[in-house]
Amino acid sequence: MDHFAYHDGVLHAESVPLPRLADAVGTPVYVYSRATLTRHARVFRDALSVLPAVRIAFAVKSNPNLAVLKVLAAEGYGADVVSVGELERALAAGMAPDGIVFSGVGKTHAEMARALDAGIGQFNLESAEEGLELAEIARAKGRTAHCALRVNPDVDAGTHGKISTGKAENKFGVPYDRAAAIYARLAGQPGLMMRGLALHIGSQLARLDPLEAAFTKVGALMQDIRAAGHCVTHMDLGGGVGVPYKAGDVFPQPAEYAAMVARVTAGWNVVLMFEPGRVITGNTGVLLTRVIRVKEGAGAPWVVVDAAMNDLARPAMYDAWHDFAAVAPDGDRMTANIVGPICESSDTFAMARDIDTVARGDLAVFRTAGAYGATMASTYNSRAMVPEVMVDGDRWAVVADRIASATILAAERVPDFLL
Ligand code: LLP
Repeated sequence: MDHFAYHDGVLHAESVPLPRLADAVGTPVYVYSRATLTRHARVFRDALSVLPAVRIAFAVKSNPNLAVLKVLAAEGYGADVVSVGELERALAAGMAPDGIVFSGVGKTHAEMARALDAGIGQFNLESAEEGLELAEIARAKGRTAHCALRVNPDVDAGTHGKISTGKAENKFGVPYDRAAAIYARLAGQPGLMMRGLALHIGSQLARLDPLEAAFTKVGALMQDIRAAGHCVTHMDLGGGVGVPYKAGDVFPQPAEYAAMVARVTAGWNVVLMFEPGRVITGNTGVLLTRVIRVKEGAGAPWVVVDAAMNDLARPAMYDAWHDFAAVAPDGDRMTANIVGPICESSDTFAMARDIDTVARGDLAVFRTAGAYGATMASTYNSRAMVPEVMVDGDRWAVVADRIASATILAAERVPDFLL
C-alpha cells in the first residue's frame, strides 16, 4: 500500500501532482511520500509487537536521506549502519546512540573508535580479528564495546546471488561451526561485552522458510553458547524481507514474518533485534523521469528516458524489475524497451515491456524506488547527482539537491605537472 495514486488521470504523490514537482525541480528526481514511509514503519513495528522485547534498527543503506531518517527516528527506530558516514547521518537525524548497531565486514580502526566515542549500542562483529582490534581500541579509551557475533549460517536465501549473504561462500560473518569457539574467545577479552549473535542471510527474500531455517540454526548455536557458560541476551535477526516490485506479486506480510519469528524464538528469553531496510522504504519512493524521445527499433521501439543506470542502478546490477507507469496515461498500451541515455547496453530498465503508451516529453515513474535507489546513484557519464523530494500531504520539499555536473567538475584539479 502506498500513497502514489491517480486523481483526475494524473499520478500524485499524496496530494501533490507529479507534473508540479517535475516543473519545479526538473527530472529525473526521486519523490518520497512521508505518509507511506510512516505507514510502513508502523505496520512493521506493530507486527513485531507480538514479541516480548524488540529493538528495530533501520538499515540506513537502503535510504540514508536525512529527512527519511528523521521520520523513522520519530517512529522510534534506531539505525543499522555500515560506515562512519551512515553513523554520522543517524546521529544527525537524532537517533539515540544506544539504538545504533554497527554492521559491516570492513570496519576500520578509525570507524570503530568514532563509534565507541559516540556510545553506540552494539557492534556486530564479523570476525575474531575485528573483535580483538575493537577490544584494543576500547581498552585504550577505557570503554566497553557491547557486541554481537555475526554468524554465517550457510543457508541459501533463495534471492539474487549478488544480494545473498548467508552462504558459506559469502564473505559475511564467521563460519557456523567455529562461532561458539570465537564467541568464547572474545567473551574473555577485556574491553568487550559479548551479548549475542547476529545474522543476515540476504535481501529481497520472497519466502520466509530460509529465514526460519537460519533463525533455527542460530537458536541452536545460542543454546550451545549458553551451555558453555556464556551470556546471550540479544539476538539480531537482520533484515531481508522482500517487497513486490511487480504489481500482483505476493510477498510475505510483516504479520506473517512476526508470527514465524514468534514461533521460532519462543523461550529464547532475549531482546530480539531487527534490521529492516527495503520493507520500510521500498514503496516509499518513485523515480520521476521524462521521456526524451521514442526511437524506432529493429523490434520494439526504444523509449529513451532522462533517468539512467547512474540514477537507478538496480536493473543494471541485478536485472531488477521496477514497474513503469505514465504520469498521465491516455489508456493506450505499447510494447517497448525502456532505456536511459548512458553509453552502455546495461543502461536498460526493461525490454519488450507492455507499458502505458508514452511519447516525447511525457512524464513517467519507476515505482518502488525508495530503497537502494538514490543511495546507489553515481555521476557516471558526467551526469548530475539525482535530487530527492519529500511530499507530506499537499506540502513538499527538496530533501537532497541535484548536484550539477559543474559542481563535481569544480572539485577536480589539473596538477601543476600537467600545466
Ligand atoms: N542488515 C544487513 C547486515 C545488511 O547487509 C542489509 C542489506 C540489511 C540489514 C537490510 O536488508 P533489507 O531489509 O533491505 O533487505 N543493493 C541491493 C540490496 C543490498 C542489501 C545489502 N544488505 C538491492 O538494490 O537490491
